[in-house]
Amino acid sequence: MVSDLQKKIERYEELIKLGQLTSSSLDIKQIQKKACTSIAKLLDCEKVLLYRKEEKLQEVVYRYQIDHNIEEVRFAIDEHSFVGACAHYLATLSINNVKMDIRKKRESDLVKSLKPKNILLFPLVSKGELIGVVEAINSNKGGFDEEDVHFSEAIANELTTTLLNALLFEKQQRMFIQVVESLADAIGKKDAYTGGHTKRVRHFAEMIGKEMELNFNEMNDLLLASVLHDIGKIGIEDSILKKRAPLTDSEFEIMKSHPALGHEILKKIEGLENVVDGMRFHHERPDGKGYPFGLKDGEIPVIASIISVADTFDAMISTRPYRKGLPPMVAYEEILKYSGTQFDTAVVAAFERWFKKSRMYKDSTLVSQRKAS
Ligand SMILES: [Fe+2]
Repeated sequence: MVSDLQKKIERYEELIKLGQLTSSSLDIKQIQKKACTSIAKLLDCEKVLLYRKEEKLQEVVYRYQIDHNIEEVRFAIDEHSFVGACAHYLATLSINNVKMDIRKKRESDLVKSLKPKNILLFPLVSKGELIGVVEAINSNKGGFDEEDVHFSEAIANELTTTLLNALLFEKQQRMFIQVVESLADAIGKKDAYTGGHTKRVRHFAEMIGKEMELNFNEMNDLLLASVLHDIGKIGIEDSILKKRAPLTDSEFEIMKSHPALGHEILKKIEGLENVVDGMRFHHERPDGKGYPFGLKDGEIPVIASIISVADTFDAMISTRPYRKGLPPMVAYEEILKYSGTQFDTAVVAAFERWFKKSRMYKDSTLVSQRKAS
């Protein structure tokens, strides 16, 4: 009796933890991972997969990471598979003899590798709309019972709210970045770049950040800082900003004030401290020859160091009114050459790893091969 009661208390404690996942993180990937671990404990089973409904598609998808690659398992929302049927009928399915069920043929290789004997599936639904499906595999008790089925409803309620909160945050964050990007682009239009500089710097910075395995908050700060890195140029006069020729020394001195001007604009916004530092120090160098402060290696925040590489790389490959952009392969080699002096070594190493996987690397090699032949 006591152990039964103890078990129930533990279950409810675990259920509360599931409902509190968004208070520790708003990273949807982290939440999904933690939710699966938590549900496996709650239902006392071997493995739990959490599928998300794909926007605009009649499919649900489970994404998981192996090494650095993201793998996917997809199911059409129809009655032909276990997961699809759960999503199609918005119903809980408890299958205690997988072997005898025709739908087992449609199971993913991932689930087949677990040799499923019994499976419990339940949908996550909000206001009649499907959000996702939970698939619990192989109960440690030999089969999922009535209590598990009943309990899965409580899990679904908690998890739906948790996921909706995280999705809402993700959507708002994306919108916020897009709004800021539009504003930054408006400044870019004044600049002598051919356009799209902000978007490209953000993309390159994101790729480097991924290689460096930045966490969720660091990545958010990096994206915002890369979008805002030249916001201070709003305070630089057009005759310098729009000049269709290289800047003179005195003009360059004025241009160098843009990180400080950007700092003036953004410093009062609460919660943006790391973003502001990323923007403010993006022209600093490890050898101390950067501006405006001449900071040295170890003093420059990693976000600023990433933006420095992303920004310089894009500046080199961009065509200006007074010069043609360099081929990406040449710009890439330049970045590598200045590792440790102009650029942070760890950031350059991450940039190199990403670039070698990018289409620019292959294309440029082909171009140089074609030129040579
Ligand atoms: Fe800049």
